[in-house]
Amino acid sequence: MCGIVGYVGGKLASDIILDGLEKLEYRGYDSAGIAVQTENKIDIRKKVGRLQNLSESIQEKGIEGNLAIGHTRWATHGAPSDENSHPHYNSDMTIAVVHNGIIENYMELKKELLDKGYTFNSETDTEVIPKLLDLYEEEDFFKTIQKVLKMVRGSYALGILNVKYPDTIFCARKDSPLIVGKGEKENFIASDVPALLKYTNKVYYLENGELGIIKEDSVEFFDLDGNSVEKELHEIKWTMEQATKGGYSHFMLKEIFEQPKSIEDTLKRRISDKKEILFDDINLDIEKVKDIYIVACGTAYNAGLQGKFALQKIAKIKSDVDIASEFRYSDPFVDENSLVILVSQSGETLDTLAALRDSKAKGARTLAITNVIGSSIAREADDVIYTWAGPEIAVASTKAYTTQVTVFYMLALYFAKKKACIEEKEYNRILDNLLAVPKQVEQILAKDNEIMKMAEKMIDCQHGFFLGRGLDYSVAQEASLKMKEVSYMHTEAFASGELKHGTIALIEQDIPVLAITTQESLFEKSVSNIREVKARGAFVISITQEKNADLVKQVSDEVILIPDIDDLIAGITCVVPLQLMAYHVSTLRGLDVDKPRNLAKSVTVE
Ligand code: G6P
Repeated sequence: MCGIVGYVGGKLASDIILDGLEKLEYRGYDSAGIAVQTENKIDIRKKVGRLQNLSESIQEKGIEGNLAIGHTRWATHGAPSDENSHPHYNSDMTIAVVHNGIIENYMELKKELLDKGYTFNSETDTEVIPKLLDLYEEEDFFKTIQKVLKMVRGSYALGILNVKYPDTIFCARKDSPLIVGKGEKENFIASDVPALLKYTNKVYYLENGELGIIKEDSVEFFDLDGNSVEKELHEIKWTMEQATKGGYSHFMLKEIFEQPKSIEDTLKRRISDKKEILFDDINLDIEKVKDIYIVACGTAYNAGLQGKFALQKIAKIKSDVDIASEFRYSDPFVDENSLVILVSQSGETLDTLAALRDSKAKGARTLAITNVIGSSIAREADDVIYTWAGPEIAVASTKAYTTQVTVFYMLALYFAKKKACIEEKEYNRILDNLLAVPKQVEQILAKDNEIMKMAEKMIDCQHGFFLGRGLDYSVAQEASLKMKEVSYMHTEAFASGELKHGTIALIEQDIPVLAITTQESLFEKSVSNIREVKARGAFVISITQEKNADLVKQVSDEVILIPDIDDLIAGITCVVPLQLMAYHVSTLRGLDVDKPRNLAKSVTVE
């Protein structure tokens, strides 16, 4: 939520900030702003709306300077407006601040400042920071920053400029991500790696409670008391190519098409040539685990729904899935015999991070499934399994989801073997099916045109339903979320058998119903449910394996066939056409599919 970039070096800083902000727009795009150190002053420019507005303003009238901080905002405190945009500053504009996070005690701090005669230009929580830095400014500004940070409660990643330090970016972090990029005679700060990849792949990850002093030829780190901190320099393996659209019209489409590779990479990292699943680095005695809690938000939560299935059906371990923001307040029976699995693409979602901390405090073993190396959740969990999806830029998550589900299947097979509750033959059968997924996803992607034609029929639809039973229901939930996120069509996912207990009242002539029927044991019942909606006028698009084609065609208006695969694994492949469907409905409606309204990719507020 919100993206920060900072640059100090020999180049035109505004170019680098705009370029970096473009890579971080997935974190929010309500407004953008920049503060540049120019001769004896800080030049601040900020514009509501997309980054394009700021870029145009800078094109019209450039800002010279080699040191700057920039920000792209996802509004929390105060509506999107020029005034509420970052950077925020003190009244004589000698101090400028960009902030990602929330200052929870800003009301009381603001009152103190108002009492002292300060006036505010915005409704944001952030503005108290430059004002406090102004109020308490002392000879050594770095000491002032330490003092002020001890006064604020909440979360922050901060970039700070002071006109008296024209060669320095100050930065700090607590509960919102911040990295420092190390270049040759130039250095950077950023919320995330893609903003820096064009310039450097060497980064330091700031930890909670750490501050940095960043200059053209030096980076130094300290704790909140000003003690020096030694940090490890990490080399990022992602390439620039991975973080660009690479010929595709949108990131979402590129990321959907990357799935054969990202699933294969995720499998390859953990499966040996001898078909052993390599999770021995996970320091866990599975015999001791009495229950598993899967905790996540959004699409990662939906991946957890499939994960529950895999863990219960294959590894025979009682598993529950919870929404992170609810889990914490539901007094879960988590103890030292529980395994809590936190699923998060970004590894920074605040509710998921908080659930992790609560679970650890209760003595549970914690395992993260995440895509971002060095992210907060990856660092704080006892164990980590990375998904190898590469950078996911589109706000709507696709390849992260399928790689998360892939990890759950590997984990379930691994636990099952450890517990000796699976026969060798069954283990090999499921594993072979899993290994076939990348090829099958490729075959499904070849149907893109066919799926686009079906999407055309939904351009004007206001409402729609996704139906499924068992595992298919969890896929329906993800498919429905995808459609809502990017096309703004109101859709609901329903367990097919539950539909007749109320919701069927909403089925009317031509309403689209996307029915998923991949589970053989539930097949006949699912087909009956399709007949029920069809009889009430629904326009039915079914998704099923080729082996079911004949019967499903009889009850559907359209059918998307996926290659035959074991029912247990079908959840990974059958979501792919539904991702494409959501993508096409969105783009056919002329919407900004990569940056849907009101959303942000990384949600670092509760
Ligand atoms: C936001 C994004 C979703 C994502 C969710 C969880 O809502 O828009 O796409 O699934 O956060 O994010 P995480 O990074 O924890 O997987």
